Amino acid sequence: MQTKRFGEKYGQYALVAGGSDGLGYAFAEAIARRGLNLVLIARQEDRLRAAAARLLETYQVDVIPLAADMADFENVKKLISALDVSIGLLVYNAAFAPIGLFENTIEEHLALAADVNVKGPLLLAKFLSAPMIQRKRGGIVLMSSLAGGQGSPKIAAYAATKSFNAILAEGLWKELRPHGIDVIACCAGAVLTPGYKQAEKTRKAPGAMEALAVAEKTLNALGGGPVIIPGLINKAGRFILARLLSRKAAINIMSKNTGGLS
Ligand SMILES: NC(=O)c1ccc[n+]([C@@H]2O[C@H](COP(=O)([O-])OP(=O)(O)OC[C@H]3O[C@@H](n4cnc5c(N)ncnc54)[C@H](OP(=O)(O)O)[C@@H]3O)[C@@H](O)[C@H]2O)c1
Repeated sequence: MQTKRFGEKYGQYALVAGGSDGLGYAFAEAIARRGLNLVLIARQEDRLRAAAARLLETYQVDVIPLAADMADFENVKKLISALDVSIGLLVYNAAFAPIGLFENTIEEHLALAADVNVKGPLLLAKFLSAPMIQRKRGGIVLMSSLAGGQGSPKIAAYAATKSFNAILAEGLWKELRPHGIDVIACCAGAVLTPGYKQAEKTRKAPGAMEALAVAEKTLNALGGGPVIIPGLINKAGRFILARLLSRKAAINIMSKNTGGLS
């Protein structure tokens, strides 16, 4: 979509939840390139302010940093409500991934995954879609993952939350379309973010992509179908896992990838 049309459809501000680093920052950059102003949310204030300053200097767009934890939705809602800006695009990128055997995962980490990865996108999509419906335009991007296509050992809870985001986006894609709101789930494979590099210390997965390429492809696909799987290798992988193999075989293959995580 051309910059002017992108701005008309999704302006004036885009909110990126989890936007100071990695894929979230890449989304912020790809959006700023398209001329939209930004609201960036992240917990660590120094890094957030540095990211905002970098985007302002490079793209001359307004960038509002909101230091907040997506696990505390009521606080996030209060901070957004206090802004006098019109948010036409939501990118929900923040996530928490408890890694390891379910039996060893503490309850607090499971609750945090549910708060950040499920409650956060669900309630923020509800909150921000209301004014979009009134304006009859807008966009919502929810970050899912290829890990959410089937059960994924050692990241079972995380994978289930990513499945939630994909299914939510599909339902909203159909429901909000008549209101002029585009919705898409990004089912990414491996993305070379600091979060990914920390989890996968030893090897790079086949098809691993740069964050900016994933963000660009996702924004370019917004307004088309309900799901994007960035990258040819990832598309082929998803096709094989979802269409050609039994669920049992798909889980077994996934466990070869995720079973070594610790
Ligand atoms: N990386 C991959 O290989 C991969 C693959 C498939 C899907 N995904 C999905 O892509 C998204 C990004 O993944 P990533 O782990 O690689 O992270 P990332 O893009 O590096 O994002 C981390 C960003 O989110 C912020 N953040 C994290 N937790 C937050 C919280 N509770 N509240 C507010 N901000 C928070 C971080 O800042 P602070 O730490 O300062 O809060 C940082 O700005 C996730 O939704 C993930 O499920 C990633």
